[in-house]
Amino acid sequence: MADQEPVTKTAALIAQKAPYGVDVEAGKTYYWCACGRSAKQPFCDGSHKGTGITPLAHQAEKSAKVWMCGCKATKTPPFCDGTHKSL
Ligand code: FES
Ligand code: FES
Repeated sequence: MADQEPVTKTAALIAQKAPYGVDVEAGKTYYWCACGRSAKQPFCDGSHKGTGITPLAHQAEKSAKVWMCGCKATKTPPFCDGTHKSL
């Protein structure tokens, strides 16, 4: 039997070229949309199906306002690292 081809990843889309400010609660897990297709940014709504991209689970350590990446090009997901400024 031939090896299966690896699933080809579709490129992430830019949801917006700016972060989303969200209030997270300590201990709660959030699923950050990595594909850019969710209608509930910055969180996953299942729209990644078929892209080969999966959401990133992030457990908040403390209750605080955080800035989650909207451009999906950050090198420190799920958080904005300023990469959106050069897109
Ligand atoms: Fe984008 Fe799930 S909808 S990762
Ligand atoms: Fe993606 Fe800032 S919004 S790096």
